[in-house]
Amino acid sequence: CGIIGVTGEGPVVPRLLDSLKRLEYRGYDSAGVAAVVDGRIERRRAKGKIRALEEVLADEPLKATVGIGHTRWATHGAPNVPNAHPHQAGRVTLVHNGIIENFAELKAELAAQGHVFESQTDTEVVAHLLDQTLSKGAAPLDAFKATLDRLTGAYALAVLIEGEDGLILGARRGSPLVVGWGEGEMYLGSDALAVGPFTQKISYLEEGDYVAVDRSGARMFDAGGASVDRPVVQVSASSAMVEKGEYRHFMEKEIHEQPDSVQHTLSEYLDLVTGKAKTGAIDFAAIDRIQIIACGTAFYAGQIGRYTFERIAGLPCDVEIASEFRYRSPALSKSTLAVAVSQSGETADTLASLTWCKREGLKTAAVVNVHSSSMAREADILCPTHAGPEIGVASTKAFTAQVAALLALAVAAGVQRGRVDADKEAELVKALFESPRLIAECAEHHADIEAVAHDLAKARDVLFLGRGAMFPLAMEGALKLKEISYIHAEGYAAGELKHGPIALIDEETPTVALAPLDDVFEKTCSNLQEVSARGGPVIMIAPETAPAPHGADIRRIHPPDCHPLIAPLVYAVPVQLLAYYTAVHKGTDVDQPRNLAKSVTVE
Ligand code: G6P
Repeated sequence: CGIIGVTGEGPVVPRLLDSLKRLEYRGYDSAGVAAVVDGRIERRRAKGKIRALEEVLADEPLKATVGIGHTRWATHGAPNVPNAHPHQAGRVTLVHNGIIENFAELKAELAAQGHVFESQTDTEVVAHLLDQTLSKGAAPLDAFKATLDRLTGAYALAVLIEGEDGLILGARRGSPLVVGWGEGEMYLGSDALAVGPFTQKISYLEEGDYVAVDRSGARMFDAGGASVDRPVVQVSASSAMVEKGEYRHFMEKEIHEQPDSVQHTLSEYLDLVTGKAKTGAIDFAAIDRIQIIACGTAFYAGQIGRYTFERIAGLPCDVEIASEFRYRSPALSKSTLAVAVSQSGETADTLASLTWCKREGLKTAAVVNVHSSSMAREADILCPTHAGPEIGVASTKAFTAQVAALLALAVAAGVQRGRVDADKEAELVKALFESPRLIAECAEHHADIEAVAHDLAKARDVLFLGRGAMFPLAMEGALKLKEISYIHAEGYAAGELKHGPIALIDEETPTVALAPLDDVFEKTCSNLQEVSARGGPVIMIAPETAPAPHGADIRRIHPPDCHPLIAPLVYAVPVQLLAYYTAVHKGTDVDQPRNLAKSVTVE
């Protein structure tokens, strides 16, 4: 979704519309604006494209100089006018990107106090909560801070309050928000592109920051409420969408975009508000096997999918590298669903495999990020990921989007096949929607990862270990490190270590272990003890609450505690950052590593 806020002296509606049109690429199923008209806040909303909103505004114009706007890509609740932003309660009108995870608890609490809700969104709860705090007499900023403190999730907000003419409040947690500096006019936007038509002077809010902007400037605060100044930087508006913004490399930017891209992708398949998997185009009850076909990073996403389809849905699932699959004459039953997984949707081997399956009479699906690609068109069923354009050659956000889509589809398969009851479904859907917040948390706490990467940069060989769904993630971690730092790395199933790779262990060969607190945690720990006993340095990626194995050289990286289902999404972030900081430390070309191509359309 896209957010814009403008506070100035001139007519605001044309400015809001101008910005929303540029943001339409982020969401397009409904749009709305709210503006301060003679001290009152009025809204106009429409289903569909910005053009529909323009027509509504032509019929019922708003004469105002302060306003907020939103273009929505439905996550919860149908794409209709009541669910379109801005949402309103009492004196408060606001727009929101992201997820309020604890909306159900908050909504129940507010409903018990007599609040009446108009929409099925998680967002409306925030408006009611803030209005309630304001009505107790709190000043706007205090009320806003108190409200933010009660929210769990990843979000960006822009807020108008009746009686506070000229003021727009904003907050960032997990979803980006920028402040734009104009002449006698100030802006809030979901990215540099949103404020691009008006200014090139931007301050990027940091995680947890909140802000009050009025015509004369901005007052910014950190999560603890301390006043802060975020630097003003100059950006070029024309190409903000494909610029690095506040980041050094596209890869770093794309790692930080994952809370948004994962949320958008999950929302394609699941509904947070109902706690249910959406009924999609795939009839999982009508198949008895899945064959996933993919290359590179997408192949590892597919393997994570396999663990989940089998565990949750009891659905047999095979995964194969497309270049092998296509020349192997695989024997497949007609009741197999062939699933191609690909960022580009153009990879030659994957496309050829998909075409082959179709010709063999199998039902086919494509999990792709480019929705107009050859695979999207070739497959019977399109399963989109919503990572947005990925520029870095080493895939990050496209990978987690693929994983998110496959995990969500596995939940749907479990429900359809009667393996997941309503309670379990609600638990799994809730767990999946916690991942954007936990991904954001991981991406923010990278100091310890940077320190480890400094040492990793000296290594010639690195082993990555994991069990269960962490095994393919270990292979993905090794691939990331190889691709961008040129350090030789291999991913192994932790239990396989003793059957060969352990011969490689010495003081110079670090082992990175992915060890969430799951049912095989103890087993992974035993494997690490074996490494440590042979003098090998260990980097253990495990929650702080996990017991530490005994050993001399064991360093820890602590992702937050999480549901085992989403561990591959959450643990992907430290794995990506480890490769990223190692490469930065070595000074390699992170975004365009030697010899690699983003999309490989040759065999
Ligand atoms: C290339 C890229 C990899 C990618 C693979 C598959 O090798 O460098 O990052 O994983 O192709 O690409 P696809 O577009 O099919 O996901």
